Amino acid sequence: MNGTAKGEARETAGNQAGGAAKDERAVKELYQDEAVARNYIDERLRRAWWRHLHNVQVREINRVIAEHAPADILEIAPGPARLAPDVRGVQSGLMVEASPQMIEVARERLQAAGLADVWDLTEGNVFDLSPVEREFDFVFTFRLIRHFHEGERRRIYEQVASKLRPGGFFLFDMVNKKVRDRLDAERDQEGLDVFDVTYADRSEIAAEMRASGFELVKLTNVLNHFSVQSTLSYKLDDRFFAPVLGAIQLLDSVPSAHPLEWVALFRKV
Ligand SMILES: C[S@@+](CC[C@H](N)C(=O)[O-])C[C@H]1O[C@@H](n2cnc3c(N)ncnc32)[C@H](O)[C@@H]1O
Repeated sequence: MNGTAKGEARETAGNQAGGAAKDERAVKELYQDEAVARNYIDERLRRAWWRHLHNVQVREINRVIAEHAPADILEIAPGPARLAPDVRGVQSGLMVEASPQMIEVARERLQAAGLADVWDLTEGNVFDLSPVEREFDFVFTFRLIRHFHEGERRRIYEQVASKLRPGGFFLFDMVNKKVRDRLDAERDQEGLDVFDVTYADRSEIAAEMRASGFELVKLTNVLNHFSVQSTLSYKLDDRFFAPVLGAIQLLDSVPSAHPLEWVALFRKV
């Protein structure tokens, strides 16, 4: 991987729009942009390893729906509805998103996927879900919580808990410290200010969430062999996207203690 590819890998593992995403206002402002919203899906799915991340997230959302048949689902910060067109079995869904530009694209994509009757879409703020006058059995969100420091994450967990029915499920992505630290060390200067919280292991994750009233149900590894998987992707995507995606998927079936990320499932206790 050359210097640019390293930077790109790390940037994408962090924040696609770039820049310092460290607090409530900064994270929100990054996405209040027409071009960022319009280009988001193409950018996010351009690399085979990014596509694999997407596929695993969709698979885990679909697994929760298939196993628990949640009547009401909340997606927080859907962006341009990257996930919803691939999600199956939603009975009644609400998306809460802060960016009007993202909402516009999401609305178009839901319409095109024939899902406009299944998902409601509203402008809102994860730090204040009080205007949402509904309760849910399943809440999910991706590429949002990771950008915040502990105090803000706790406020988000509190808001989610306030809208989840007892026993309800909460699914989101968490970044592995060991792999991420290695990427940070290799990374070139351009995006050093991007913040993603990282976790050393299962017990650290469980402890953080237990303190906010959630029990850890399941951690799903994503990108078990990131160095090999991302190198394959950067070198060969342009000519052999489908075979590279297949190889990345196959490599992920080989267990590892150190994936790039986890998809983490919790239950409100
Ligand atoms: C990196 S994008 C992730 C989009 C989508 N979840 C995905 O995984 O592709 C972050 C999204 O969070 C939204 N966002 C940022 N701050 C927010 C807040 N306080 N409340 C709700 N959404 C927020 C942004 O507008 C943006 O759409």
